[in-house]
Amino acid sequence: MSIVKINVLTVPAEQREVLEQRFGARAGTVDSADGFEWFELLRPVEGTDQYLVYTRWRDEESFQAWMEGPMKAAHQGGGEGGERPKPAATGSTLWSFEVVQQASPKKG
Ligand code: HEM
Repeated sequence: MSIVKINVLTVPAEQREVLEQRFGARAGTVDSADGFEWFELLRPVEGTDQYLVYTRWRDEESFQAWMEGPMKAAHQGGGEGGERPKPAATGSTLWSFEVVQQASPKKG
């Protein structure tokens, strides 16, 4: 079964809009990666101030391949002297999961 990688972003309240706009501006950057299955940006409503960047992949290899290549481009790779806007997030942590059970609504 698939694997889930969640990037947990700590985002100060006044930076939420900036963060969401930046994600909006980068829509489509992960969609065609081999083994990519799902992405959701989850905005906290209650119980936490952390945004979750939920991604699901066919397997660990697909995720690693994306991380080593396209992901860096999608995150503007840093360095190289380029002017880089200050991140809206003040911290990030990567969580890894295996999907053990799943369900989706019955069709028809
Ligand atoms: C689960 C895999 C992912 C990892 C490990 C990851 C890594 C990171 C990290 C470390 C940051 C912190 C802020 C920074 O330095 O820019 C960040 C922010 C960001 N990521 Fe990702 N990311 C992941 C998935 C994605 C996906 C799928 C997208 C695009 C659809 C994306 C787009 C962005 C954007 C727009 C920011 C906001 C930068 C800011 O203003 O704080 N990320 N990501």
